[in-house]
Amino acid sequence: MTLDKLLFTKKQLRDITLKNRVAIAPMCNYSAKDGFANDWHLVHLGKFAQGGAGLVFTEATAVQSTGRITHGDLGIWKDDHIPGLKKISEFIKSQNSIPGIQLAHAGRKASMQRPWHGNGPLDHTDQSRGEDNWEIDAPSAIAVAEGFLTPHELSLEEIGQIQNSWKDATIRARKAGFEVVELHSAHGYLGHEFLSPISNKRKDKYGNTLEGRMRFVLETAEIIRENWPKNKPVFTRISSVDGVDGGWTLEDSVTLSKELKKRGIDVIDCSSGGISGSATAAKIKRGPGFQVPFSEKIKIQADISTMTVGLITEPHHAEEILQSGKADIIAIGREALYNPNWALHSEVELMGEGEFESWPHQYGWWLDKRQKSKS
Ligand SMILES: Cc1cc2nc3c(=O)[nH]c(=O)nc-3n(C[C@H](O)[C@H](O)[C@H](O)COP(=O)(O)O)c2cc1C
Repeated sequence: MTLDKLLFTKKQLRDITLKNRVAIAPMCNYSAKDGFANDWHLVHLGKFAQGGAGLVFTEATAVQSTGRITHGDLGIWKDDHIPGLKKISEFIKSQNSIPGIQLAHAGRKASMQRPWHGNGPLDHTDQSRGEDNWEIDAPSAIAVAEGFLTPHELSLEEIGQIQNSWKDATIRARKAGFEVVELHSAHGYLGHEFLSPISNKRKDKYGNTLEGRMRFVLETAEIIRENWPKNKPVFTRISSVDGVDGGWTLEDSVTLSKELKKRGIDVIDCSSGGISGSATAAKIKRGPGFQVPFSEKIKIQADISTMTVGLITEPHHAEEILQSGKADIIAIGREALYNPNWALHSEVELMGEGEFESWPHQYGWWLDKRQKSKS
């Protein structure tokens, strides 16, 4: 087996070695109760580890119960959540993959319906299932869209309390056995709401200027870094652009990434959009690898490792992105829902037929035999 394919070359991040450059992007499953991980989450995430990805992220995991998007989000706001998460991280590690956790707070996009219930504000049908609204928080009292709840504007004291929840969640993530932690500051959720001039109209030190709007995310990144082992990496997911007039720009992302790097953030996970619509509704043209140019610019101009994501489905395309120096890690989202073995299949495609060494023995031994019988 030749090792000239970057997608299947190791990536060192502090003391953590990813066996390849394929990561599974965080993807909410809206299937938890009171924030607890259950068998669904174990099987859902476990199969990506069996499927050969070097890094497997949990979905957005709420640092406060009020920071959940829906009643079904995973949570890490109490110690009781640790054992369920630990079962998942241990299984992922048993498959020679690295477990990552995305820590999140939904801000003004909290208290919503699950996508398959309408993706809108909670209504009487949800309430009849026992799923009531709760009071939501944001930098400014501006609803995400008409018909949605108007958030409560956070006081300075409340901002400190939320940051403290991030600290507690980071400590719990460590106890739950994760090796990578990601600060979710994208898609119109709380961190992004502080960054974007669309959602942050504050006149105090957490708003007003670019420096003020970046303060919440930078301080939170520092808190996570201080409470996460020095030998393990921290990622930050950002919306590289808002894609709306007067919004957050790619130049702002470069500035932010330079500041995050100074605070010990290892990788910028370059997504986009979501500030004034649903989570992935950026008003930018979509196509294969449409967010790669964001990753490329941030990687070069901020001189930091990046993860790229968004409509990357072909192994040769993923390889080309890495070979041309536009990203360090390729994150796969929906393609992994379609094919949880995407990494293993890509390895066969890039490295040559009949290569089953990386497969779990339980599968690889048989597939190798089958391959030999065919030829
Ligand atoms: C079902 C689903 C849930 C998602 N949940 C999250 C999430 O929890 N956190 C996040 O940052 N992005 C989330 N995303 C966005 C993905 O991480 C990814 O950026 C996006 O799907 C684009 O990548 P893809 O084209 O490979 O799917 C979600 C996407 C999907 C499809």
